[in-house]
Formats: sequence, C-alpha cells, structure tokens
Amino acid sequence: MDKITEFIDDLSAQLDVETLSKLSLSMKRDKKAELKSVFVKSIILRDQQMLSFVYRYPTNDLTKNFSIAEGLENVEKLLKDQFYKADLMSTERDVFLTIDKSGKGKIKRKDSNKTEQKTNSAKHDKTKKRLIDLKNNYYLQALDIVADGKVKRNREDKFRQINKFVEIMGHVLSNKYTEPVIADMGCGKGYLTFALYDYLSSLSMNPKVVGVELRPKLVDFCNEIANKANFDNLKFESGYIGQWEIEKLDVLIALHACDTATDDAIYQGIKSEAKVIVCAPCCHQQVRKSLQTTGALKDITRHGILMEREAEIVTDSLRALYLEASGYKTKIMEFISTEHTPKNLLIIAEKHDRKLDSGVWDRIESLKAVWGLKEHYLEKLIKSL
Ligand SMILES: C[S@@+](CC[C@H](N)C(=O)[O-])C[C@H]1O[C@@H](n2cnc3c(N)ncnc32)[C@H](O)[C@@H]1O
Repeated sequence: MDKITEFIDDLSAQLDVETLSKLSLSMKRDKKAELKSVFVKSIILRDQQMLSFVYRYPTNDLTKNFSIAEGLENVEKLLKDQFYKADLMSTERDVFLTIDKSGKGKIKRKDSNKTEQKTNSAKHDKTKKRLIDLKNNYYLQALDIVADGKVKRNREDKFRQINKFVEIMGHVLSNKYTEPVIADMGCGKGYLTFALYDYLSSLSMNPKVVGVELRPKLVDFCNEIANKANFDNLKFESGYIGQWEIEKLDVLIALHACDTATDDAIYQGIKSEAKVIVCAPCCHQQVRKSLQTTGALKDITRHGILMEREAEIVTDSLRALYLEASGYKTKIMEFISTEHTPKNLLIIAEKHDRKLDSGVWDRIESLKAVWGLKEHYLEKLIKSL
C-alpha cells in the first residue's frame, strides 16, 4: 500500500471513532500556486458528520464542507497534486506524512501526549486502582482497549477517561437510585455507555441503559457487543437526539455530542423530567457565530482562539442557567485534565424541589446582552415546552 493510501486509512479510522482534532495539508508542490495550505476538521451539519475544509489563499480563506467520502477523496487528491505534507492530530494519536520530490512517502505516528506525560501517567496507573475490572472483560476487548488482560498502550487515555467518568457518575447516583433508567445520547462507539452499565451493575444498581446514536453501523456494532457480554438491559438504538421519543427517564447523558446536539439532549432530559442530566459539551458553533461584542470586549474576540473560548464559556454558562430555570441545580467541573482532551468540561444538573430563583431569566438576559447574543438554541427549545 502506498503511503498516501495508508495515511487516508489512518484518517478514515480516526473519523470512525470521532477522535480527529484537525488535519493540515502544507508544503505546496508548486511554489507559485496560490493555495498555501488546507485545514480540515470533522463537523456535524444537519445531523450528518461532514468534513469542513478551509482553503488558505494569500488574501482570503475559503471554507467548503464535504461528506466524509468526498472529503477523503479530496484529501487524497490534494496530497497527490498539491501538497507534500500532512499532519493529522487526534485525541489519541498524531500521524505525520511527508512526501519527497520523487513521490516517496514517509509516515510517523506518535501518541498524542508527550512522552513524559505518558510515562508519568503509566506510572500513576500502576498505583491507582481503576474502577473498571479488566479481568474477563469482553466489551473492553471488543472495543480494542484491552488485549491479553492489559490496557493497550495507545488506549490508556481512553481507559482513564472511562474510569473518571464512572467514578463521577458513581458519586452522583449511588445511594439515590436502585434501578435507574438511563439514556446516553450520541453514544458513538459506546465506550462510556458500556462502562457505565458495567460499573453501576457492579454496585448492584440494576441499571437499564439505552445508547442513542445516529450512525446505524455503530448501533449494530454496539448491540452485538452488548449481546455477547450478556448485558441484558443495555440496548443501542439508531436515531437523532432531537427526535428521539423518550419515555420515563432518570438520567440523561450526552458526552461530546456536537454543537447544538448537546442542547437537543438537554432539552430531551428536561422534557422527560430526568432527575439527573450530565453532558460534556463539544464544539460551540451556534453561539460563536452569534456573538457580537462591543467596547472593550472587542479586544478579546478579535483573536480567533479567544473568541472560540469565550463562545464555549458563554454557551455553557447559559446552559447552566437554562437548567436552573428548569428546576435543576447545576455544577460545572473538569471531566479529565486538558492534557488528555480539550473537550473536558462536565455539566452536572440534578433536579430539585426548591422554589425556582425568580431572577434567573433576568440573569440570562443580562448575560446575553453583554455578548450581544440575540438567541440561544436551547432557550428556544425550552420555551417551546
Ligand atoms: C464525539 S462522538 C462522542 C461519542 C461518545 N459519547 C463519547 O464521548 O465517547 C459524538 C457522537 O454523537 C453522534 N451524534 C452527533 N449528533 C447526533 C444527533 N443529533 N443524534 C444522534 N447522534 C448524534 C455522532 O455520530 C458521534 O458518534
């Protein structure tokens, strides 16, 4: 297999498990070519996973979105015709392709974390007891996290994230629920869904869990593993978060569901009167596009990266307030250290019976006004209830 094809296979594999952070194509083959570089990232557009390409020219950038298949074809063509270099960054592994003038390619792969972090965390793992038992663990093997009874070297971060997540959920749920009905919205390959089911079962909680995912291929894959693991009360269903018909629910989870899919999930949780809603937000496009700063704030948002961070902070602060306006007490905490993934916040909301804070909608309006935000997607949903 030639190196460009091998690189495209790596890229496709990262897209399957949704770990791609970004891809850049650089070092133009023709020095006089106008196109300087291309940046690619995975996005969800109208509930479809797509690839968004930013073409960088000397005086302007051009953005185009493609289906995954078209996008992969484009990357391949760009590498064959226009660029010598491709850097693929993912939350798990980075892959670097260089092609020389004779057309010969070279690939280097590196775990996403620095070696030192890796060594430290490996040492740390040895001393820290993990909550998920590896012994005879069928699902962790089927999900390619464990082999020969050990966590695979390049899957240590994922395993750490899984353990952290079940630890947090254990604190939130234990001693309060005996047979919690749980929905995991946008469950992907189900890493956290399986682990949660397994861990709560080990605490004798008898959970009933459904994972909802728009990609049928992943749903079939997960159902097969759940059957083989004899997890009788764990099911996966194909569907869109926003359209999913919810019955009675105790706990709603949405981890890294893109942009407004997190809002759809929160709305579904509120609608079904879930007692606990837990989400780890992903990207924050809706608010980012609508922020209109004035005065001194302009000095923050003129920098793209700071604008992005502000959009995250504003989006998630408002989400917390909308949850409070809907009868939940909320806290926002770090899920797992930023060295492992930038998507590391967890919003935890628990329903309460206290009187609602009558000023909460005024606080929402004040916050929106500071950022020139006319509308938040979740607000519209909540007001339609
Ligand atoms: C980044 S992955 C996260 C997977 C998993 N929750 C985790 O944290 O490991 C997001 C998943 O949500 C799915 N998804 C995105 N929007 C969705 C929607 N509107 N309805 C159902 N699934 C959705 C995607 O297909 C993808 O598998």
